[in-house]
Amino acid sequence: MLLDEVISFLHPEQKGTYLDCTIGAGGHSREILERIVPGGSLVGIDQDKEMLNLAEKRLKNYGKNLKLIQSDFAHISEIFKKGERFNGILYDLGLCFFQIRQGERGFSFSVDGPLDMRFNQKQELTAFELINKASPEEIRRILRDYGEEYYADRIVSAIIRERKFSPIRTTLQLEKIVFRAVPGKRKRIHPATKTFQALRIAVNKELESLAKTLPEAIKLLRKKGRVAVISFHSLEDRLVKTTFRKFEKSKLIKVITPSPVVATQMERCINPLSRSAKLRVAEKE
Ligand SMILES: C[S@@+](CC[C@H](N)C(=O)[O-])C[C@H]1O[C@@H](n2cnc3c(N)ncnc32)[C@H](O)[C@@H]1O
Repeated sequence: MLLDEVISFLHPEQKGTYLDCTIGAGGHSREILERIVPGGSLVGIDQDKEMLNLAEKRLKNYGKNLKLIQSDFAHISEIFKKGERFNGILYDLGLCFFQIRQGERGFSFSVDGPLDMRFNQKQELTAFELINKASPEEIRRILRDYGEEYYADRIVSAIIRERKFSPIRTTLQLEKIVFRAVPGKRKRIHPATKTFQALRIAVNKELESLAKTLPEAIKLLRKKGRVAVISFHSLEDRLVKTTFRKFEKSKLIKVITPSPVVATQMERCINPLSRSAKLRVAEKE
């Protein structure tokens, strides 16, 4: 996603040190590694053990130049507390195609699976817990705040009605409940899209992690080092924009992208998911 744009903003240098906070399947990292070997190094972080295993396999040729760590990126200041500094730090938020298509991870309403949605499989909170145990007010807040779901009231009523009889266990069960609850069936996107997105954000505390990590990433940059963030949700993009502005005011960084960079027409055609991607970049002063 926005691969050429990320590379041209981060401009990876021989002997540079880079941090990919969302290594996923390693697509961005590979392009960075190609430009920094043999002298440079890259650390890749992901919460999801399966994604780390995949990245390890795909990037095995980079051996000593690559280090992988399983963690929430909210903890980067604890991970790098020995004075490590980076020339570039990348966040490509959200989830990977590999995670979406695995039904058992429970991210998708088009593949049946348990209501899970955890990036970190060791975490206790799952989408099942939220849907079946959270109060109606809490579910409504999640759908409104994280999904900007206009029909939150109707969807919550349908969930509460259904769960009185038996627990809602699977993605397709929830998809059907939402589909029936939304009137007129919005045409452009599937009626369950916003509900699933909102639940995933809540289960993984995505906004909290992002709010915690961005100031820490700025601290971990070398002078003239750059941080690049690709987001897919208006709340994430707003958080990136306001954090960058705040640190720009205190002269710690300079914002390189006054407005977000979006995917080219060509990329939007090839990969429809890129249509909502926004890239913001800042440079350490
Ligand atoms: C869109 S994918 C990254 C794709 C990657 N740039 C590539 O080229 O393959 C996002 C990845 O970030 C991970 N992730 C999401 N939130 C995270 C967090 N708070 N801490 C660490 N990893 C996270 C997900 O598990 C997923 O693998």
